[in-house]
Amino acid sequence: MGARRILVTDLDGTLLGDDDALDRFAWWYTTGGEEYRLVYATGRSRASLEDLMVQTRLPEPDALSTSVGTELYDADGNAWPGWDERFAGWDAARARHVLVGIGWLRPQPAAAQTPLKASFNAPGLRSAELNILRTALRVAGIEATILYSSNLYVDVLPPGSGKGEGATVVAQAWGARAEDVLVFGDSGNDLPMFQRSFRGTLVANALPELTTGVGPETYRSPYPFADGVLDGIRHWSRLEGS
Ligand code: GLC
Ligand code: MG
Repeated sequence: MGARRILVTDLDGTLLGDDDALDRFAWWYTTGGEEYRLVYATGRSRASLEDLMVQTRLPEPDALSTSVGTELYDADGNAWPGWDERFAGWDAARARHVLVGIGWLRPQPAAAQTPLKASFNAPGLRSAELNILRTALRVAGIEATILYSSNLYVDVLPPGSGKGEGATVVAQAWGARAEDVLVFGDSGNDLPMFQRSFRGTLVANALPELTTGVGPETYRSPYPFADGVLDGIRHWSRLEGS
């Protein structure tokens, strides 16, 4: 496949949040965005994303990273070759078993739990509390990544997963260089996308958990939601002179 630029975008709070802005994005993408491939990177499950595709004007993507970057699919919804294999032997049930005893963590509903994702709710956590979770898992011999999003959601994921890793795998398969990958986000589970050498844009409504974690090269759009995504695309194309 020839190299084309790639848009990897979060959904809730980034592409979604303002229906008129989403319409503007969808119009731009379907009438003039042929230079780009589109990848959705979301905390939602695949089933929940499929519902959303029916309910909204989200354009059809070329790849999907779901459940906080623990699952990766191609445009036809087939599992991305080689992706699942990297997590062999990791079991989120073990993490749930260890963390369920911590009183201030509330397990999310069963639909949000998968073999590769243990998810809890806990409002207003700071790094001290997140470190308690890291320590509890380490003591139990579980290697994991912990992400905190929207000042509420705690996701425990296997090493080698996440939205940034999914974007890297897809970009490599499509022969794109890191500077040809534009990433967009608003909350903590987007941070791994901003820790690669991609071109990052924060929408104006991005939360401090993300804005304080990204580097100075990241573009901070003055526009929220999908208008911020469109603005980021314009920003990075201007810099390229195209
Ligand atoms: C979505 C998922 C939830 C996760 C959150 C943050 O809301 O449904 O399980 O914790 O994203 O990543
Ligand atoms: Mg979001």
